[in-house]
Amino acid sequence: MNLSDWKNYSTLGIILGSGLNECIPEVMDIEGEIAYKDIEGMKLSTAPGHVGKFLFGKIDGQPIVAMQGRLHFYEGYEMRDVVKPIQILHALGVQSLIVTNAAGGINLEYAVGDFMLIADHINFMGTNPLIGPKQEGFERFPDMSYTYDRTYIDTFKKIADEISVRVHEGVYLGTTGPSYETPAEIRAFRVLGADAVGMSTVPEVICARQMGMRICGISLISNMAAGVLDQKLSEKEVLETGERMKPQFQKMITAFISRYGDMTR
Ligand code: HPA
Repeated sequence: MNLSDWKNYSTLGIILGSGLNECIPEVMDIEGEIAYKDIEGMKLSTAPGHVGKFLFGKIDGQPIVAMQGRLHFYEGYEMRDVVKPIQILHALGVQSLIVTNAAGGINLEYAVGDFMLIADHINFMGTNPLIGPKQEGFERFPDMSYTYDRTYIDTFKKIADEISVRVHEGVYLGTTGPSYETPAEIRAFRVLGADAVGMSTVPEVICARQMGMRICGISLISNMAAGVLDQKLSEKEVLETGERMKPQFQKMITAFISRYGDMTR
């Protein structure tokens, strides 16, 4: 099947981040899939644990398009390649996007395994995916004041409370990576107002916002950021935390999806 066969399959999309790639496929009735390598002009995800497929399926009867694996700027791709999947989701009819990632906890009240609902972000990547010719039909200077949807944040908080999962609401700071931060950078980011740090999400969110999508961002605090604990950071910890928190993540997403229909404007 081609991508165009899935047009208007669902208005809801989800991007599965590091350590979270397998979470949703496990609870989804999969009806179809398209590998990134079969899509013209689409780059491949090379990051560990990022599969590289669009999945089409239902959770609790609600259709959803899942991106199993994302593209990162640190893979050496142009920003326009990193956000191409967002343009594809938009063309497929997606209007609401759940963006997930693994992030390092900067806020000292956070603990490994907590979730953070992204209330706002800081673009620390030194570039912007909208640089370039103006996109026909979209604003040149999109407003970013209300980027993360309040109804979605409140719904996730309510769900987390019901199922006793620790969630915070905080600010995500996006860096290019791929090196982790130094302890001095983390102290500086804390002063800037960041609660968690990661190497993704910001480009996709900027692009999705320009396209008018309602956005919900969820970070899994997979490790405490550099210098917070007296230990080195490792990708192994990031992936292991994802694996450990899988049941809670699945429960939260499933509950959200079953309420999604009630939240459409
Ligand atoms: N820093 C940057 N990106 C990350 C981290 C981190 O500590 N953890 C997971 N992704």
